Amino acid sequence: MTYIYYINGKYVAADEACLPLNDLGIVRGYGIFDFLRTYNGVPFKLREHVQRLQKSAELIGLNLPWSTLEIKAIAQETFNCNHLPEANIRIIATGGISTDFITPSGEPSLIVIVTPVTEYPEAYYKQGVKVITVQTQRFIPGAKSLNYISAIMALQQAKQVNAIEALYINQHHVLEGTTTNIFVFRDNKLITPKENILHGITREVVLELAKNEFEIVEQPIYYSELNSCDEVFITATNKEIMPVTQIDDLQISNGKPGKNTQCLIHLFRNYTRLTNT
Ligand SMILES: Cc1ncc(COP(=O)(O)O)c(C=O)c1O
Repeated sequence: MTYIYYINGKYVAADEACLPLNDLGIVRGYGIFDFLRTYNGVPFKLREHVQRLQKSAELIGLNLPWSTLEIKAIAQETFNCNHLPEANIRIIATGGISTDFITPSGEPSLIVIVTPVTEYPEAYYKQGVKVITVQTQRFIPGAKSLNYISAIMALQQAKQVNAIEALYINQHHVLEGTTTNIFVFRDNKLITPKENILHGITREVVLELAKNEFEIVEQPIYYSELNSCDEVFITATNKEIMPVTQIDDLQISNGKPGKNTQCLIHLFRNYTRLTNT
């Protein structure tokens, strides 16, 4: 099956989509992206994802010439061209071509890649997952830049010990995962960091759904506090809400997903599957 991608004004077959090799996204990693998915064939929180893309661009000083509505329309049209029941949609903007390989000399490039949704095994949600920790902090954490070097390296490390995600620790703070945000429950209080992270769209939805059920505190989480947490979970577009039952060698909630996390998984699934139409 050949997918249709959007690239700089054209909708083309995936294997015909190309960028000049002197694009700053390639030679300097200068660019940003966003990633969303559909539920019921409708892009979920498309406006929020496009606005975050625009904010990421602003944070790295990349001037995007397109409005929110224009980017939304291109993402929607690329999804429509692919006739997939459900899809992941990746929107990428790079610095565009550069004659000296460092100074932008043209318009930014805009790319939209649509692929089928891939789901994680249901066992991950029923039994929980293992994650590791690594010492690092993302560069300009509020931006979803193209620089995922630490993420790729940390995930290789995670894989070696059968963990599915790595959490970034900086100055004893547990910030976020390579592609996820972190939440913990302590005494029925839902806690999640607010500073030096990417503000996940899933995180926002979880905070909105949880506010009627639990007290919420947005504050730093210290690594040393993890052993007194009742429950831990991570959130992301492709993982939704995933219970964490092991962090490094520390077992969380007796090795089983806790009831508050299960309650939020249920609320999140209902919200995405029943209301995104
Ligand atoms: C560093 C980082 N934090 C958090 C997230 C979660 O964001 P979202 O819920 O919008 O997918 C991502 C997503 O890829 C990410 O890369």
